[in-house]
Amino acid sequence: MSGHDDVIEKLARSTVRLQPPKRVRDAAKVQDYDGWYESWEADPDAFWKDAAESLHWFEPWLRTSEIALPQHQWFVGGKTNLSYNCLERNIERGLGDKVALHYESEHDPSRAFTYREVLTEVSRIACALRSLGVGKGDRVVIYMPLGPMGIFVMQACARIGAIHSVVYAGMGAGALRQRIEDCGARVVVCSDATYRRGKTVNLKSIVDDAVAGLDGVEHVLVHKRESATVLQSNREVDLEALVSPQPDECEAEVLDAEDVAFILYTSGTTGKPKGVVHVHGGFAVGVHLLMRNYFDTGEEDVWWSTSDIGWIVGHAYICYGPMLVGCTQVIREGTPDYPDSSVVWQTVAKHGVTTMFTAPTTVRMFMRMGAESLEPHDRSSLRMFYCAGEPFNPEAWTWAQENIVEDGFVADNYWQTEIASPMLGTFACMDAKPGFVGKPMPGVRLKVVDHEGESMDAGEGGALVMEQPVPWMMRSVWNDPDRYASYWNRQLGGYVTGDIAVRDGEGYWAVLGRSDDVLNVSGHRIGTADVESALIEHDAVVEAAVIGIPDELKGEAIKGFVVLHQGRHGSADLEAELKHHVRHVLGPIAQPAGVSILDSLPKTRSGKIMRRLLKARELGLDEGDTSTLED
Ligand code: PRX
Repeated sequence: MSGHDDVIEKLARSTVRLQPPKRVRDAAKVQDYDGWYESWEADPDAFWKDAAESLHWFEPWLRTSEIALPQHQWFVGGKTNLSYNCLERNIERGLGDKVALHYESEHDPSRAFTYREVLTEVSRIACALRSLGVGKGDRVVIYMPLGPMGIFVMQACARIGAIHSVVYAGMGAGALRQRIEDCGARVVVCSDATYRRGKTVNLKSIVDDAVAGLDGVEHVLVHKRESATVLQSNREVDLEALVSPQPDECEAEVLDAEDVAFILYTSGTTGKPKGVVHVHGGFAVGVHLLMRNYFDTGEEDVWWSTSDIGWIVGHAYICYGPMLVGCTQVIREGTPDYPDSSVVWQTVAKHGVTTMFTAPTTVRMFMRMGAESLEPHDRSSLRMFYCAGEPFNPEAWTWAQENIVEDGFVADNYWQTEIASPMLGTFACMDAKPGFVGKPMPGVRLKVVDHEGESMDAGEGGALVMEQPVPWMMRSVWNDPDRYASYWNRQLGGYVTGDIAVRDGEGYWAVLGRSDDVLNVSGHRIGTADVESALIEHDAVVEAAVIGIPDELKGEAIKGFVVLHQGRHGSADLEAELKHHVRHVLGPIAQPAGVSILDSLPKTRSGKIMRRLLKARELGLDEGDTSTLED
């Protein structure tokens, strides 16, 4: 049923195993994976109690969980604060003068901030937000590139109990507006610009478009990086001017473990993005636990994730995770291939990065650039090299193991915006089987099922379902409890991930791709429905269908098909205009690689567009069963 039979067969035949080098194995925080997993199975309450006790609680929790699906609560009654746990808790442990954050950029000078300095910056911003009347439960949309300011604003929101919703600063005005409206943000915090490949990207004009006519937005706070930026309406405020006179201290709000920390929008199967809701307590416990015991990162490490604050990886493992464990982290604004192909390795050498996190797409880009760009740079500090976000093809995995890490270990991990930390991963203490992500985290019980919910055997592909909730997963979909409830499917027996998976006889799991109409372009999740509705918004288009086509570098590329209104005629100019239109609405990551103009779209007799057929035709494959095709 999975439609991935060829990959499953290839996996079954593969005998490739990569062993962690001795120094990795010896240093692994979890030495015995089975024993660790079994300790959760034997006594979940004791396991979660132990995990949560590493963090600060203003008041202890009464019960570790209360589950009445689709609702689930963790550390019930406990009072805590995510930002307090990242900052004061570490300063009290003596880490105040330690560097929390090294910032690198292709444009600005390098900077470093100690834990104490981060606390001061975050506190000033938190006071500034409070001075505008922003408080617990208020939504703040953040549209900023990866940089200290973006992280500080997120932490400042968490500090005062405001709910942040970061929109990736590469999304278009339409996507930004939709998110601001859906979460009812009172405040938008943005940067006027970011810098990519030597060019200045104007973000302010996108924000201007997005908030035009939205009266609910009371303030637009602008982090000015360009002296030429002029603030216009009186709701626009210069962020730094507002922040600099504020006091250095701002007491963290005492929050309930289940209070909402953030909303992060992601693509689903309809054109309306889903606002995935995460809370303070369970998120902090899960991220802290897995940062240490899965990502193998403690105080002694230098961590670098190449993600962005606009994605879930940037929430869990840039903004919060590194500061929860008290390590030093590196962030870099810019692309990994500019100003030259060795900038990543120069950065690793400069800071002695020990644990790194990127995406398979980036590895494939390194492969394409060739091992020569790595060679002159000392990578001996790299102990662990993690990848996630899309299927990690064995060729790229093996290449990374052979070429990137000298005496380190490459590991895949699998999760989603909805589950804010890994579900599966290869641990530092276990052999890697390229093609298989690895084994489940404690708390995670998975199964593979068919359409009826029958469990499939090892070696058989099907829908991946998680049987019970974990503390670090979503609590709801903002404004849409029914959509949230639909994730928990009684017939399939749990939380439906939307992915197709297979496990082998040794307990390793492989995630093969989506079972729904969600594409994965360079590790970014894009709904076909989002792109289709953007195309239909164009006045020439009457109907649109979008498919993913395999792309060696990006995993998938987007291909659109449109039918035009009568009287409109296709041309190369119109095709280019349609691509540009999608870019404007959704941002460059969603821009189709191509748009074809057709006289009609293939449909079933009941009127459903047959995307499968468009894909088969595009790729020159067998068209399969076309008996339901409309004449
Ligand atoms: O389809 C799976 C794929 O990415 C989706 C989640 O994307 P996002 O919400 O952006 O969160 C990314 C967090 C790392 C999943 O439903 N995916 C993620 N990791 C893997 C993966 N597919 C295969 N292997 C992975 N390691």
